[in-house]
Formats: sequence, structure tokens, C-alpha cells
Amino acid sequence: MKKECRAAVIAGNWKMNCGPAAAAKLIEELKPLAEDADCGVIICVPFVDLQTAIEATKGSNIHVGAQNCHWAESGAFTAEISAGMLKELGVEYVILGHSERRQYFGETDVTVNQRLRAALNAGLKPILCVGEVLEQREQGVTEEIVRMQTKIALQGVTAEEMKQIIIAYEPVWAIGTGKTATADQADEVCGQIRKVLAQLYGESCAEATTIQYGGSMKPANAKELLGKVHVDGGLIGGAALKAADFAAIIHAAQ
Ligand code: 13P
Repeated sequence: MKKECRAAVIAGNWKMNCGPAAAAKLIEELKPLAEDADCGVIICVPFVDLQTAIEATKGSNIHVGAQNCHWAESGAFTAEISAGMLKELGVEYVILGHSERRQYFGETDVTVNQRLRAALNAGLKPILCVGEVLEQREQGVTEEIVRMQTKIALQGVTAEEMKQIIIAYEPVWAIGTGKTATADQADEVCGQIRKVLAQLYGESCAEATTIQYGGSMKPANAKELLGKVHVDGGLIGGAALKAADFAAIIHAAQ
């Protein structure tokens, strides 16, 4: 399968930005700018904005995601949110394994796998994040790290379930730093992830999976990154908070 046959998807990760009022405003600005998008468009908003985002995007081409979910269906997990709760609300996607969750909140490959399986069981579509830190890149172990993160996160996941999953390669050193991986670096690692998928699930599954790049993607560099054969989309942080910038990236994906 060629790149053209894979679904291109641009997703915004709003992180801990915008309360419901600001979210409604940003979505209203974005809707007309994104309506002619030739790719999938997702916004992953804070939990408190989900209801607002679902209402505001009704009838539009913008899909709504959360930024995490717990692995248990319910129980004594103060402040956590289950995949089933998100599904009930009407949420479609969920980011899992973001490096900020790994770095600041002790998330591990094993808990990412648990969350991912819970998300699939609840009918959510995971956006699974993997990526190396700067030290690992300098040590020359990027491929090993990303392979390991991908394989552990996908333990117990079937080829059929893979159709629901987007993978995002986010080199940690490029997130929020203004340092972007070069298009060749992004392409190389996205290609390595595709190779892992081929080993686990076969060529056709690997070729059909959408693999995004994330890390300081912006209008100025989006076209070059998205033009690479293994880069099927972007997971956008800072630039997703400005409707015009996010729309420019969406249009670069066409
Ligand atoms: P930035 O685009 O702000 O670097 O963030 C990327 C990211 O972490 C998306 O999940």
C-alpha cells in the first residue's frame, strides 16, 4: 500500500490549556478553517472541555479525543477517568503514553498497554505515543527504545484492533522546545515503527497504519515533514492552540 492510501490525520493535543469557554471559542474559529480538510482532524482536549467540544463539533469534520484514560472500568482510583466514561460522553479518540505522562506521572510501557487495551475494549480509538529522550538519541538507541515502547504497548492487541490505532512518534527532545526532528529523522523512525508493525502483524497491517510525527510541528515545517513516505500526519501541541496555525497544518496534509 502506498502512503496515499493511508489515512492522513492531524490531531491537536491541547495539553492543559483552555477551559470550556476558551475551548468553545477556539473550536468556533477552527470549524470554518478546517471544513474543507482533506485529512482526518482530531482535537484532544482537557477532560473538562470534552462535553463542550463534542457539542461544538457536532455536524463538523472535527473529531474529539481525550488525553488519557484509566485501565480499570471503575473503582477506587481518585481523580481518574475510565475509557467507558469517555465513550459514554461521546469521545472517539484518546491519546495514550504521551511523554509528559511518562515523564511527570510515572507512566510506564506496561500501564500504557493496560490503558490501551481498556480503551479498545470500550470502543475508543487510541493515539499511542512513543519516542526517545535526547540522551537515548545521543546514545544511538532510538530504534531500540521506540521498538520496545511499541511492542510492549501493543501486547495482546490483535491485527483487527490495530485498525483502530494511530501511532504518534514524538521525540521527547522535540516537544515544546522549538527543536523539530528533521524530516529525514522523523521519516526514519516512523519507518522503523512500521517495520515493528510488519513483524507483529504482517505487511498489510503495517502499511495501513497511520503513523504521525509530533514535536514542534508548525505551519513552516509541516509540509516537509508530512511529505515523507512514512509520516502520515501530525500530533500538534502548541500550534494546535491557534486556529490559523492548526488549519495551516491541516492544509499542508493535503
Ligand atoms: P509541541 O507541538 O508543542 O512541540 O507538542 C507536541 C506534542 O507533545 C503533541 O502531543
